[in-house]
Amino acid sequence: MAEQRNIPRHIAIIMDGNGRWAKQRNKERYEGHIAGVDSVRAVVRAAVRNGISYLTLYAFSTENWGRPQAEVDAIMELFCKTVMNEAEELCRQGVKVQIMGERTRFSERVLEMIDHIERTTAAADRLTLILAFNYSSRREITLAVRDIAANVARGEMAAESIDEEVISQHLMTASTPDPDLIIRTSGECRLSNFLLWQASYAEFYFPETLWPDFGEEAFDRAIEAYTQRDRRYGLVTDNVIE
Ligand code: FPP
Repeated sequence: MAEQRNIPRHIAIIMDGNGRWAKQRNKERYEGHIAGVDSVRAVVRAAVRNGISYLTLYAFSTENWGRPQAEVDAIMELFCKTVMNEAEELCRQGVKVQIMGERTRFSERVLEMIDHIERTTAAADRLTLILAFNYSSRREITLAVRDIAANVARGEMAAESIDEEVISQHLMTASTPDPDLIIRTSGECRLSNFLLWQASYAEFYFPETLWPDFGEEAFDRAIEAYTQRDRRYGLVTDNVIE
């Protein structure tokens, strides 16, 4: 089905607009994040239904630690609660969950939940759901460069053998194909330190919809828009090999 409809293999989403959604309703910001979890549930369902193989969601950036402590705590709590409540249903749908980001600064409880969700869903094979949590792309690239430099210094690799593939293999996304489609909700049109290397040939889609209002239909519309795009990878239409 995926091949016939030319649908994206990997969709990545910057879930933006929770705060504005809450403000419009005179609610606290954390209530926007709570509503945002319903959208996460909806897009996961829609991704499975559409035969998408990889879905990456930007849930918490390295920079987000700088938000008011109450909001950070609320997002961490929401993450733990969601993991506890959804693990079984995710397994039932065939969703394997992986957390992408540095395992630093988290509480013991969050670390336990990360371990719990990854272990519980490890055997699922319909959709890989990657939650970027304490992730930033520049940090990811920095760590990769450090790692490669250390390999060279130890004499395990020649500097001349560093190519794009070597770099890709040292990123946190090493086992994941590059995103075909990147969606950012709420009308903002920027990447905010998300998958900078991996986004080289991605298509972008920027709906005005705030994240808590982004549901299954909106996700289907994004896929439909993608199917209309002409991806050329720097070539001309006639010689593109996908
Ligand atoms: C961006 O909206 C959203 C976030 C920084 C957090 C996203 C978190 C969730 C959807 C819930 C937790 C996720 C999981 C997977 C359990 P914003 O706060 O920047 O919105 P604004 O730009 O309108 O202020």
